[in-house]
Amino acid sequence: MLKELYNKAYQKFTPDFLSNPIQLEKYLAGNRESLVSFIASHKEQFDYPTSDKTVLELGCGIGSLSFWLKEHYKNVTAVDVSDLAISIAQSIGAINESEDLKFLNHDALSLELGQKFDFVIDSHLFHCLPFKEQREKYLNTVKKHLKPDGWFLMEAMVMQDRLQVPVGYEFDEQNILYQEIEEEWIASRCILPSIKVEEEVAASGLKLNYFYYHHELSFQVFEDYPTYPPQFLPKTVRLSSRLK
Ligand SMILES: C[S@@+](CC[C@H](N)C(=O)[O-])C[C@H]1O[C@@H](n2cnc3c(N)ncnc32)[C@H](O)[C@@H]1O
Repeated sequence: MLKELYNKAYQKFTPDFLSNPIQLEKYLAGNRESLVSFIASHKEQFDYPTSDKTVLELGCGIGSLSFWLKEHYKNVTAVDVSDLAISIAQSIGAINESEDLKFLNHDALSLELGQKFDFVIDSHLFHCLPFKEQREKYLNTVKKHLKPDGWFLMEAMVMQDRLQVPVGYEFDEQNILYQEIEEEWIASRCILPSIKVEEEVAASGLKLNYFYYHHELSFQVFEDYPTYPPQFLPKTVRLSSRLK
């Protein structure tokens, strides 16, 4: 079900969309903008090199961030549960495919690569895991794939007082956002208060060393309402953590 749900979101990438390089690059650049600004500012603040480092990107979609990471890190492994997203990412990357960028179709919750990375980057996946048990498994995957001195970076949407949901969406008391798709209500996101995100990451055994609630950064979650007023959308947290 999970795979079908995400595959559906990627059906808009038709061959004519993908064969229009200007349109495609505009989409990829817009889509990665926020994560790039976080990753670049984190690097500047903590002052580390990346050109000789390895990255595991979780929830890569069609590779918006992965192609940027490849330019700035030595080696990138990008994972997504949607086989459609991965096949699109591979076809976009085919022009300059190399050993330095691998796309992998796998569920992050059961990922066992037997390899550890300098960086694990959450590519907007954490908030796509509506249930706490899923997020616990996910953070376990993160820990399993981090080198002892590695960094985990995550940007996620969080609750705010003024958040309002439009028709076709509903919240429950556990901050799970349900979306009505073809007359079925599907748990699609968790939009936790920022303190809960902090608590869940800390409870996983990771040590937080950067946590920032960005009140000015709204997160577009209602994709079928592209002009939804930003003041009623979720806000953003950015965090980094390391193994204890
Ligand atoms: C909000 S999208 C972000 C995609 C991409 N990073 C971007 O910025 O365009 C979340 C991605 O996580 C993927 N995803 C959801 N659950 C997953 C899981 N359990 N394991 C791996 N990927 C998952 C979805 O297929 C989707 O591509």
